[in-house]
Amino acid sequence: MTRPATSPEQEVVEARLVEAVVASFDACSDPRLKELMVSLVRHLHAFIRDVRLTEEEWGEAIEFLTRAGHITDDVRQEFILLSDTLGASMQTININNAAYENATEATVFGPFFVEDAPHVELGGDVAFGAPGEPCWVEGTVTDTQGNPLAGARIEVWEADEDGLYDVQYDAGKRSARGHLFSAADGSYRFWGLTPTPYPIPDDGPVGQMLAAVGRSPLRASHLHFMVSHPGTRTLVTHIFPEGDPIGERDSVFGLKQSLVKRFEQQAAGAPTPDGRVVEGTWSRVRFDIVLAPVGA
Ligand code: BEZ
Ligand code: FE
Repeated sequence: MTRPATSPEQEVVEARLVEAVVASFDACSDPRLKELMVSLVRHLHAFIRDVRLTEEEWGEAIEFLTRAGHITDDVRQEFILLSDTLGASMQTININNAAYENATEATVFGPFFVEDAPHVELGGDVAFGAPGEPCWVEGTVTDTQGNPLAGARIEVWEADEDGLYDVQYDAGKRSARGHLFSAADGSYRFWGLTPTPYPIPDDGPVGQMLAAVGRSPLRASHLHFMVSHPGTRTLVTHIFPEGDPIGERDSVFGLKQSLVKRFEQQAAGAPTPDGRVVEGTWSRVRFDIVLAPVGA
C-alpha cells in the first residue's frame, strides 16, 4: 500500500518516542529481560509506524485481547491458540529444536495433552472405545547413530473420528490416548485410530480472526507423539497421513514434510499383525523415531 510520506518533523517525534521507551529499560538488571523488552518495543513501534495504526484499530486490538483473556481458563488457552495460528508457536519450536543430523523433526504440542494417559502394553489399543477406524502403528526408537533406545516413553494422543479429543467431551474422560515403552530392541507397536482432520477450537476470538481473514480452522489430520529417553532431547511431534487435502494449509503451520507418512488402508477382514479381529477396514503406518542428544 502506498501512503503519503511522513514529514521529517513527524519522523523525529515518532523516533524520539521509541528511544525514550527503549531508554526506560536502561536500569534493568536482568540482561535477558532487557534484551527482550527493548527488542519487543522496537518491533512493536516499527509495526505501529509501518501500518500507520489508527486509534480505532488500536481499540479493536485491545478489545480482541480482552476477549481472548475472558475466554481463557485452566482448560481453554486462547493466547496459545493465537500464537499457534500466527505461526509463533511453530517458529519458537523451530528455534528450540534445531535440526540435528537425522533426528525426527518436532512440531506443535497443542492443547490436548494430559499427564495421566493410561499405560498400554506393546501392541495394546489406545483407542479405549473412541470411535474411528483402527490403525496399527509400529516403528523403532533409536538415537542418531541408529542404536536402539529401550524403555523410551512414548505418549500418543489423537482426536476421534468426530474430530474431538476425549477431554472435549468431559475433562476426566481418557480415550484415544495412552503411553507405552519401547522394547529392548527399540521397537514399539500399538493400535490407535486413523487420524482425521478437525478444527482447532474456533468459537472464540481466534476463530473470529480466522473467519475475518478467510482462513480455515482445520488442522491437517495427525497423531501426536511425545517421546522421551534419558540422554536424549524429548521429542514432541505428530505424524500426518500422506494425501490429506488440508496438508500444507494446516491452521497452525505444524505440518513438516518429513512427518508425512503413508497410512496403508487395509480391506475389511484383512489379517492384522497381531491376529486381532477387526470387523471393518483398518490402516497401518510405520514411524521410526530418531532422538537427538540432549543439548543438540
Ligand atoms: C491440536 O493438535 O490438537 C492443536 C494444536 C494447536 C492448536 C489447537 C489444536
Ligand atoms: Fe491435535
